[in-house]
Amino acid sequence: MGILDGKVVIVTGAARGIGRGEALECARQGASVVLADFDPSPAYDVADEIIAAGGRAVVASGDVADTDFADQLVTGAVEEFGHLDALVNNAGILRDRTLVKMTDEEWDAVVRVHLRGHFAPTRAACRYWRAAQRPGRIVHTSSTSGLLGNFGQTNYGAAKAGIAAFSTIVSIEMARFDVTSNAIAPSARTRMTEPLFSAVAEAEDGFDFFDPDNIAPLVAYLCSPDAGHISGKVFGVQGDSVEIFQPYTSVAEIKAGGKRWDPADLAEQMGGLFTSSGIQPGPENMMQRMRYNVT
Ligand SMILES: NC(=O)c1ccc[n+]([C@@H]2O[C@H](COP(=O)([O-])OP(=O)(O)OC[C@H]3O[C@@H](n4cnc5c(N)ncnc54)[C@H](O)[C@@H]3O)[C@@H](O)[C@H]2O)c1
Repeated sequence: MGILDGKVVIVTGAARGIGRGEALECARQGASVVLADFDPSPAYDVADEIIAAGGRAVVASGDVADTDFADQLVTGAVEEFGHLDALVNNAGILRDRTLVKMTDEEWDAVVRVHLRGHFAPTRAACRYWRAAQRPGRIVHTSSTSGLLGNFGQTNYGAAKAGIAAFSTIVSIEMARFDVTSNAIAPSARTRMTEPLFSAVAEAEDGFDFFDPDNIAPLVAYLCSPDAGHISGKVFGVQGDSVEIFQPYTSVAEIKAGGKRWDPADLAEQMGGLFTSSGIQPGPENMMQRMRYNVT
């Protein structure tokens, strides 16, 4: 018995890395899985692995940011397996470059794959769940780059922060249809992060902290009926750790005393916001505050 017995789950970007682990875990937990990726060959390898272990899987080869493909992904899952229970939006790419060197193409490619690549399958799935009057689960993939900020990733970070906001609003809109929407910010050693994590030793104590398969248990849980009460949240996940992120929250206030602020008064009083909140006025790399080191 698995926590996803009888369920049907779509995982995008399922051919490798984090998505591969998510697809395998959902299948281990009893789900029939649709593996969506624009790279069919490794996706078929994952499907073969699931089927060899006694599970059910099909491959859908295409671009998740394409509306026709996204719509067909949901229609095809229902045709193949009878219904759809969960969508894991995971597909993504990087085109890292500092802002002043970034091209329009690098900006557009990243924003398209991540934001449209989350929007299009989510809209298709939500339309299905609303019409079918069935509960649904969505897990989106954000990043600490978007939540905290990371050098050289204005395109990727903007898209990933957008995904967290998108997930929150989907959770609000879809609550009345019994559809949950949560986001994860994972950290794992994959093709995408190989240069960053390659220096981290693998499993000295038998546990490989940055193994991409460590992300999957939380995702399978969030796709399950047990997680029906959790929605609109952003979770950090890596190794043996699951964290919850506080949304952007106001932590200090200064007031002009019942009238519009004079800019000169702001120049004098802005310091109050920083001293009472403990926030630095200049740029901060909040990634450096993370609780684990990658170098
Ligand atoms: N690896 C990390 O530490 C990390 C950190 C934060 C966020 N993420 C996010 O996790 C997700 C998975 O990343 P990963 O590290 O496993 O990367 P990966 O490159 O190993 O896998 C990404 C997969 O997505 C597929 N893909 C990309 N664009 C697609 C598209 N338009 N349509 C269909 N498939 C597409 C690729 O073919 C690939 O199989 C991404 O959204 C990434 O931004 C990863």
